[in-house]
Amino acid sequence: MATRHFLTLLDLGPDELRYLIQRAISIKNGLKTHGPTYTPFANRTLAMIFEKSSTRTRVSFETAMAQFGGHALFLSPRDTQLGRGEPIGDTARVLSEMVDAVMIRTFSHEGLETYAAASTVPVINALTDDYHPCQLLADVMTWTELRGSVKGRTAVWIGDGNNMCHSWINAARQFDFQLRICCPEGYEPRQDILAAAGDRVAIVRDPQQAVAEADLVTTDVWASMGQEEEQARREADFAGFQVSEAMLDRAKDDVLFLHCLPAHRGEEISTTLLDDPRAVVWQEAGNRLHAQKALIEFLLLGRVEG
Ligand code: CP
Ligand code: NVA
Repeated sequence: MATRHFLTLLDLGPDELRYLIQRAISIKNGLKTHGPTYTPFANRTLAMIFEKSSTRTRVSFETAMAQFGGHALFLSPRDTQLGRGEPIGDTARVLSEMVDAVMIRTFSHEGLETYAAASTVPVINALTDDYHPCQLLADVMTWTELRGSVKGRTAVWIGDGNNMCHSWINAARQFDFQLRICCPEGYEPRQDILAAAGDRVAIVRDPQQAVAEADLVTTDVWASMGQEEEQARREADFAGFQVSEAMLDRAKDDVLFLHCLPAHRGEEISTTLLDDPRAVVWQEAGNRLHAQKALIEFLLLGRVEG
């Protein structure tokens, strides 16, 4: 059977993604009830290549492997041959001989695709400049846990048309919900990604109008990793796009607020928003652990019932 990779949400079918969400919830409940006694990854190894910083992604993948009885290896370009110019295809072939799966956080999505094309073990996108699909597994899991099926509901993305926004667009396609994207002129998501989603996804310029009657509101930093030098310009361009409690008041009474974190309080969110009960970002962050367990299990072992 051909090796399955998870480079974007489009690498799995809608039915497989819905399975993963339910499986993640089931794994989470099992952990709460029995503790880390389910160890399907005994003697399995996940290589984790990080070319950008991380707290949640590193800790959740490493903990997922440990709790499932396996092992995770943290690899940084600073102290591997990747940082000294060994071709990524060669690295992919070498790691394929030794480990069971590879997780990569890097800049170029094309670089990730080059790696995956040469890998005979599953490759997982742990964030590129263009996508962050693992975060969306945790986000849809959180939304589903708290509100049931997301099909036909309305989510609103406020802010930059960045990697997270692109993955929200793909999530709208795969999980069949409506998505309103509210970004300043010049910060739209990529046109091809937007166009492929059809009329499920709409651009709405006015934040107050965008959040009206929404089921879920989400945002992200205005300057992503690698855009640090644009911080000042972006702060000016995103004025008026801060998500606040008052903005959530315009959405449905049971609206949820998500943020992949890390957050910049006082920039893309008001200083107190994460303390509002509608913000469920800690549960969302914790769900990275459970969603990624379900993902790795699926890539290594296929569907597991229960
Ligand atoms: N949300 C997320 O991916 O966080 P980290 O950058 O801390 O991994
Ligand atoms: N858009 C952010 C997400 C961080 C998890 C970034 O790429 O830095």
